[in-house]
Amino acid sequence: MNTHLFASKMASIPSVSQSQLFLKKPQFISSPTTCLFIKPSQSLNLSVSRSKKLVVVAAAGAGTAAAEEKSKKRYPGEGKGFVEEMRFVAMKLHTKDQAKEGEKEAQEKPLPKWEPTIDGYLKFLVDSKLVYDTLEKIVRKADFPEYAEFRNTGLERAESLAKDLAWLKEQGYSIPEPSSPGRSYSAYVEELSKKDPQAFICHFYNTYFAHSAGGRMIGKKVAEKILNGKELEFYKWDGDLSQLLQNVRNKLNVVAENWSREEKNHCLEETEKSFKFSGEILRLILS
Ligand code: HEM
Repeated sequence: MNTHLFASKMASIPSVSQSQLFLKKPQFISSPTTCLFIKPSQSLNLSVSRSKKLVVVAAAGAGTAAAEEKSKKRYPGEGKGFVEEMRFVAMKLHTKDQAKEGEKEAQEKPLPKWEPTIDGYLKFLVDSKLVYDTLEKIVRKADFPEYAEFRNTGLERAESLAKDLAWLKEQGYSIPEPSSPGRSYSAYVEELSKKDPQAFICHFYNTYFAHSAGGRMIGKKVAEKILNGKELEFYKWDGDLSQLLQNVRNKLNVVAENWSREEKNHCLEETEKSFKFSGEILRLILS
């Protein structure tokens, strides 16, 4: 990837707006009263899913099989597990330049030059650490029991960031206090985690998985430009990263099996916020 391309990647982060992703899809309207009208013989496939959506489809009577087939196809990735659904939504929020599956339009306004600064990168690392500290504290505390599944996954980043910041300090850099993008994101996920587990899990997934993909590419580019190629601990994992990621995917899929379709959609809809907050932190690199 050349530096110009990379500049466009960074520059395109700010204006993510993909809520229409969900609006484009056909909407099923369900209410508890609809369910009262289902004859036992019509309540098909409740063993497959007890979501209101399927119940409503069953209540439609004629054409049920076709309608149900159609409804099954509504959620890309659904067949492979919920992580694939989250990934699908996330990939669409990238631009084509960022990832080949991206669909978001790149910004038309002039691109800032891809010139990471050491001050900006220090801010990025400090704010990232605050976010990982918060995520890791949340799963340790586990206000909702399912969070406990995500303790000690091997993906944790707070400790490695602490080592990097200590190393940078030794090199003579002064380490800033967390700035507004990191503080806002950290406060947001902390609040969310207490009341909205589906939305919280969306941030958890996106933060750790984005870092393992695009985050690593960015780290490499920055290191080449301003750190003489030094690879920070932030970009190293103990053990095989793809296996660690797979273990977490499996756990996320199991947790989401207990969610209704509405809860799953709620989680998917949070992806856009995750991009917005993370995008603001990423942009610190160029500040
Ligand atoms: C400059 C910014 C970014 C770049 C260049 C970038 C690039 C990429 C690339 C190349 C992939 C791998 C695609 C593949 O599997 O073929 C990826 C995956 C992904 N990205 Fe990004 N990305 C960026 C920002 C973000 C942000 C802000 C988020 C969300 C907070 C995000 C979330 C994800 C997720 C969830 C995946 C899927 C990872 C997986 O399946 O293991 N990315 N990104």
